[in-house]
Amino acid sequence: MCGIVGYIGNSSVGPILFESLSRLEYRGYDSAGIALLNGHGIEVHKRVGKLKGLIEGTSQLPLRGHLGLGHTRWATHGEPSETNAHPHLDCQGRLAIVHNGIIENYRELKERLLDQGHRFQSQTDTEVIAHLVEHYSRSLSLRDAFRKALQELQGSYALCLLATDDPERLYGARLGSPLILGIGKNEMFLASDVPAVLGRTREIMYLNDREVVELSQNSLQISTLDGNPIDRQPSRIDWDIACAQKSGFKHFMLKEIHEQPNTIEQTILNRLDWQIQQVRFDERTNHFLERLSPDEQFVIIACGTAYHAALVGEYMLEEFAEMAVDVDLASEFRYRKPRLNRHTTVLAISQSGETADTLAGIRLAKEQGAKVLSICNVVGSSVARESDAVLFTHAGPEIAVASTKAYTAQLTVLALLTMYLANARQLLKDPEKLQFFRTFRKLPELARLALNAEADIQKIAFFYADSENFYYLGRKYNFPSALEGALKLKEICPKIHAEGYAAGEMKHGPIALIRPGWPVLFIATDSNVYDKVISNIEETRARKASCVVIASEGNRSIRSYADHVIEVPKTEEIFSPILTAIPLQLLAYYIADLNGCDVDQPPNLAKSVTVE
Ligand code: G6P
Repeated sequence: MCGIVGYIGNSSVGPILFESLSRLEYRGYDSAGIALLNGHGIEVHKRVGKLKGLIEGTSQLPLRGHLGLGHTRWATHGEPSETNAHPHLDCQGRLAIVHNGIIENYRELKERLLDQGHRFQSQTDTEVIAHLVEHYSRSLSLRDAFRKALQELQGSYALCLLATDDPERLYGARLGSPLILGIGKNEMFLASDVPAVLGRTREIMYLNDREVVELSQNSLQISTLDGNPIDRQPSRIDWDIACAQKSGFKHFMLKEIHEQPNTIEQTILNRLDWQIQQVRFDERTNHFLERLSPDEQFVIIACGTAYHAALVGEYMLEEFAEMAVDVDLASEFRYRKPRLNRHTTVLAISQSGETADTLAGIRLAKEQGAKVLSICNVVGSSVARESDAVLFTHAGPEIAVASTKAYTAQLTVLALLTMYLANARQLLKDPEKLQFFRTFRKLPELARLALNAEADIQKIAFFYADSENFYYLGRKYNFPSALEGALKLKEICPKIHAEGYAAGEMKHGPIALIRPGWPVLFIATDSNVYDKVISNIEETRARKASCVVIASEGNRSIRSYADHVIEVPKTEEIFSPILTAIPLQLLAYYIADLNGCDVDQPPNLAKSVTVE
């Protein structure tokens, strides 16, 4: 994963690099480093651990210069250490490079370069790039040497390069890992993601795979790997810097949980046509959906939290749009031999739009003649660009590693898509349609009401903060919710082992572990499987488990089955995972916070998984 930044301009480079890197720390944080051209040569500073350590460790230094690059790392090759931290230099210390991705053929390249006399400092794959460029720059200009080196790299990269021999330019390139350009006033940026530059500019350009960019303070030139120039216009980002800051909340995760009424509202906005009682998307997507065949089959692919949204989507589309739907983890799908054809739509769900496995799944789908529709939060991301049509979630930038508002926005889009298809297939009766439309309109308010349980959840979290294990159980639409609840806790509170199961599977294994006091969270909102869930609660209570139950508001009888009850507003079952997600997120958050966990940047995780 990793976050990279590059800067060229007339402001002092050190503080700018640190500010940009701090907005990319969600991508990796096991070490950080910067390199700058200071008039005498390349100055490099690195530290193991978070960026804070590097900032504190260099606070007495001037860090002046107008050209620099920085990196925040999520280790893939070589343990987190100062030597393995980026930037990496060539033998003579005349060029510096930062990299996000994996160079798959680095071993062969390294052996060749070692035979040619190059000396390596680190165990990383990245360092070979610095030496390879050095090798070619003996006979070529830096520009051509960079290009030549890129042509030999296999794998994925977003790169940023500077060199003492070319002190007025910064170079970047991309294959498979994201890289954006920020165009400021007398300054230019390269970065892994938009929030890194939002403090200085909202004029953005996206670099595509196999493109190279050359930046000076006031100009930029994009070209193909072969050197053919590309003309591209910048786009203006409508997020502002406040969206990418904590706004008084202790953590980004808590802020993002609280943003959900608004992000759900934004996601629904302008998509309900009350006159004809139909859902409307953008023109390209409407056109895509109108052309689906009556026996179209959906295969939904995703990773992590987005995969849980996909599982809910399967229930929705099957029940209301009467479609055949398969769901697969993108990391599995890409290595299977799926039977796809022109009546298959692969629906890819991804918050970042850069998850390597999801992208590989999209490419496989296209090779096999399937169409690709995606649900994505980042305009201009790889998933968005490679799909035939995109349903954007309008959740704004999600910074915390654990996904919250993007998940409920994905569920909202899936519900909208289901309504669209069910309507187009004339499967909904008028009163039912009207009722769904009313609920869509009320959803932001229902999410706001779900947040009202926060104070109760804080108390419940206190009760369970010392637990070692936690089961999460649910059925039907709320089976994926159980998986998501457990994932939230295990992501941000690594002290507790949490697992989610379909409640009906309890007796096929998990129940064997239950001891007196073992925490089990049930999702028992109103549905046609409510009584079944109650039976499952009875089974666990018979083994003296301690039960937390998420139930529909006003359910008085549930208290006799539960040690703790969390209420969510009543709604139709199809919408309930949107509302039950909120207390699950809050419970995980408060348990993790009580345990002193690093909620926004949990160990070993990163937000955007751009490697396999
Ligand atoms: C990582 C993140 C998760 C996210 C998953 C898929 O594991 O930590 O929060 O759900 O990647 O990411 P995507 O951007 O494709 O939704």
